[in-house]
Parts: sequence; C-alpha cells; structure tokens
Amino acid sequence: MKIYRAGVIGVGGVSSLHTDAYAALPNTELVAAADLSEAALSRFTGKYGIANVYTDYRRMLDEENLDIVSVPTGANVRCQIVLDVAACGVNALIEKPMAIDLAEADAMIAACEKAGTKLAINHQRRCDAQYRKAKQLIDDGAIGELRHIRVMGVNAGFDMSNNGTHLFDAVRIFGEDAEWVWASVTIDGRDITTDDVTWADRKDTSRKEALVAGDRVSAIFSFKNGARAFYESNREGIFGVELTGTKGRLVCIDGSAGPYPYPLAIWTPDNPAGVWQPIEVPDDEMNQRGLGRWLCGRMITELIRAIETDSEHPSSGYQGRAALELILGIYESQKRGGKVKLPLSPREHPLTTL
Ligand SMILES: NC(=O)c1ccc[n+]([C@@H]2O[C@H](COP(=O)([O-])OP(=O)(O)OC[C@H]3O[C@@H](n4cnc5c(N)ncnc54)[C@H](O)[C@@H]3O)[C@@H](O)[C@H]2O)c1
Repeated sequence: MKIYRAGVIGVGGVSSLHTDAYAALPNTELVAAADLSEAALSRFTGKYGIANVYTDYRRMLDEENLDIVSVPTGANVRCQIVLDVAACGVNALIEKPMAIDLAEADAMIAACEKAGTKLAINHQRRCDAQYRKAKQLIDDGAIGELRHIRVMGVNAGFDMSNNGTHLFDAVRIFGEDAEWVWASVTIDGRDITTDDVTWADRKDTSRKEALVAGDRVSAIFSFKNGARAFYESNREGIFGVELTGTKGRLVCIDGSAGPYPYPLAIWTPDNPAGVWQPIEVPDDEMNQRGLGRWLCGRMITELIRAIETDSEHPSSGYQGRAALELILGIYESQKRGGKVKLPLSPREHPLTTL
C-alpha cells in the first residue's frame, strides 16, 4: 500500500479536521505544516510531534516531496496557494469557500488541469451518509420526480458566502447542473447599492474573505434535470435541504442520523396526514466519531481514489466552482434585475461593479 505524504498550509481552527484525519488514516502520513504564525506552528508541533514546520509554504512544497496538501486558510489567500501547490505537482484538498470569485476558481482549476493534479473542496456533505442515502432514494424514485429543493439555514451576506457554500453544494447533489438564477438582494427593505457592498471576514487572520451586500435574499434556481431550488435567507437553526417530489418529500438536516421521508408531496384535508419517518443510515466507524472530522477522512480517501484511478473527486474543483456560481449568480441577478443564465459571464465578482 502506498503511503501518501501529506502537508497542511494553515494550521488554524479548522485545520485539525485535516491533520487528525491524515494522522488516523492508514495510507497517509502527516509530515509537515506551514503557517504565517509561529505560534500556530508551535501548537501543531506540540500536538503531533512533527518538527518539519515552515513559515513559508513554498519552502515546504520545495523540501517535503508531498503527495497531498490541505489548504485550510481563509479564502482570501487560497487561489495563489493552490496555483503554487499545483505548480509543484501536489494534489490538494482545500477548505470552503473555494475562492473569492469565479475568475479565481477558473485559474485554480486550470492550474490543476495543466499540472495533472487533483483538486477537492471540503464540502463534506458530498461524502456524508445521510446525503448519499437521500440521493440514492431519489434516484430510485422514492419521492417520484424531484421538483423543489428548499434551501434552509443561512443568512444573507457573509453567512451566505461562507457557510452557504456547503448548502448550495448540497443543493447541487440533487439538482446537479443549474441553468439559471433569479434573485432579489435587499437591505432594510430596499435594493442594495454600491454603498452597501463591503468586504467581510471572520478573523484577523483571514481578512477580506468575501465581498458581500444585503440583509435579505430570495432566490430561485432552475436545474437542467427539471428541479427548482428556493432559497430564502434565514438562520432558524435548521441547516439542510427539503426535497419535494411528485410523490413525497425528503429532508436532510445536519445532526440527523439519516434523511427523513414524508409520504405526501402536498398535504390536503382529504388526505390522511403523513408522518416524517427517520431512515437511519448504517455507516462505518469514521462517520460515527464526529461529522466534520471523519468526513474529512472520507474526503481524503476519495482524493486518493481519484488520484489512483485518475477520476473526478465527488467534491471536485468543478463541483466547488458550480456551488460558488450559484451564490454569485444571486448577486448578478440582483444587479441585472432579472433572470441570469449560467455559466456566469463575466467571471469577476458581480459586486465589484454593482
Ligand atoms: N468545512 C468546514 O466544515 C469548515 C468549518 C470551519 C471553517 N471552514 C473554513 O476553513 C477555513 C479556515 O478556517 P479557520 O477557522 O481554521 O481559520 P483560521 O483563521 O483559524 O486559520 C487560518 C490559518 O491560515 C494561516 N494562513 C493565512 N494565510 C496563510 C499563508 N499565506 N500561508 C500559510 N498560512 C496562512 C493563518 O495564519 C491561520 O493560522 C475558512 O475558509 C473557513 O470558511 C470550513
């Protein structure tokens, strides 16, 4: 069995999902880390006993002969890092959101294609048993023809760009390729203007992570497979999707052991009311030990499978870019005052020229 040499660029908060997974998987060896912060590197060395740490990730790429690198930095620096990683012929699992805009995402994908390396985005629901089961049920016709996807759980603004990429990627598990977006973005009940556009970030270590505007978003997405998704910004504590078909419904919500089906597409008084029934998904040990941490292990396992079989990762750069495109399509639709066809053109962030 080949042992893949793994490194990490950015050892802040979420990096332990990646580093713990590399340390636990039988076919990966965590060998090095890079970060601008010496304090973060010293915490990494303390936890894993690995002294090969670098304040310049380019030196790590030159010296460590890595097969795979994780990039859990903020999105503000991700594009240049991925270009440098690809230029060294190293495969990458990167955090979400993939990039600031589609021009960056295009450049990242082109660099990996040119280098012949694999690029995966840590949108974990692509590997989550609940979502995989729901997809299988829908493909098997359990709720008839898929018509509506309700997107639940993120606010307008930074939340939509940051956590939202998980949800819009989850929508695409079922809707697949979108053909248009129609959206409204408002603030205090009026349309957004240039003055409302601002850079947003989570921490001092991750400046300018997303260009955002608005405090309310309503959007419709049309998919080539006939499904339509509906998004109304909110933070009601439910994070997931409700899938309505011609014969019933399924809901996937974070924290559930499996999808919940409901036997009616629409309730009417002359129908007996149905009940939501949980479908528990039997799964291997990795999923049971904690969603984020062990789904990261699955993402890495899928990356190795993609490398060894020269196939696409289920959460590839192409999928990540398409999820980002749904979010940016929302702003483009508001900007043009109408329905916007995908793929988007131009590729720069729509809010740069509102
Ligand atoms: N997939 C998930 O479930 C999930 C969960 C939380 C966060 N995230 C994403 O993960 C990313 C990181 O989040 P975080 O909370 O760990 O952030 P963080 O700010 O705690 O850590 C980022 C680290 O990257 C380092 N860094 C920045 N620029 C660098 C560079 N040029 N070279 C080397 N290191 C550099 C910083 O010094 C910092 O230590 C964000 O994009 C966030 O959206 C994903």
